[in-house]
Amino acid sequence: MRFDIVTIFPEFFSGPFEHGIIRRAKDAGIVGVGVHDLRSWTSDRHHVVDDRPFGGGAGMVLKPEPLVAAVESLRLPPERGRAVVVLTTPQGRLFDQREAERLASFDQVVLLCGRYEGVDERVVTAVVDEELSIGDVVLSGGELAACVVVDAVVRLLPGSLGCEHSASEDSFSGHGGLLDCPHYTRPAEFRGIAVPDVLLGGNHAEIATWRRRQALARTWQRRPDLLEGVDLGEDDKRFLEELKATAK
Ligand code: ADE
Repeated sequence: MRFDIVTIFPEFFSGPFEHGIIRRAKDAGIVGVGVHDLRSWTSDRHHVVDDRPFGGGAGMVLKPEPLVAAVESLRLPPERGRAVVVLTTPQGRLFDQREAERLASFDQVVLLCGRYEGVDERVVTAVVDEELSIGDVVLSGGELAACVVVDAVVRLLPGSLGCEHSASEDSFSGHGGLLDCPHYTRPAEFRGIAVPDVLLGGNHAEIATWRRRQALARTWQRRPDLLEGVDLGEDDKRFLEELKATAK
């Protein structure tokens, strides 16, 4: 799989992809990441990528010609794989674990980083397949959002996490869409706070039950909206009923 990122700040990406899992996945040939300067698709002497908005108002808008030219030169032709063109913008659909899994199934993701007050809408009409937002928060540009998308997708690619860890054990997928349970390591007591006994006892069935219930309780307390998408067993339902009853 490969990512091609189009940005007016290519240097921004010199750090985030040089560490940890993304670095390893690149070195292992699991993923390729190309970072491209939008200005290289301008034809004027000053490499202008933005202009004032028609109709007036504050800020500048990214011009359509360089972005469309960038997509047309970077996007893989259909015979070379499945490609998707994504614009990062706060107006986009919310990026979540399911979206990450979906993007991981493409051969190429072209990421256009939005900037300034916006992007000429004809870019969206002409070449963008999807607009994605990483949350209901306004960033100064789409670069950080693009990093979030790359990170979330790369760790799902087979082989990128190594054998000792699996993405299927994360929050939102491991416990079937629940938040993760708490974790502890040594020492067994820290500042008077003890690790729960069950984790020290070595009974794997009890530990699994404890973890499942912690995940259920946390999700109910912190993100009850997530419970709607979770496949709950009879034990889960009984536990949640008890929890709700004792909380009243
Ligand atoms: N650009 C600015 N804010 C953004 C957000 N929340 N998600 C994606 N791109 C953005």
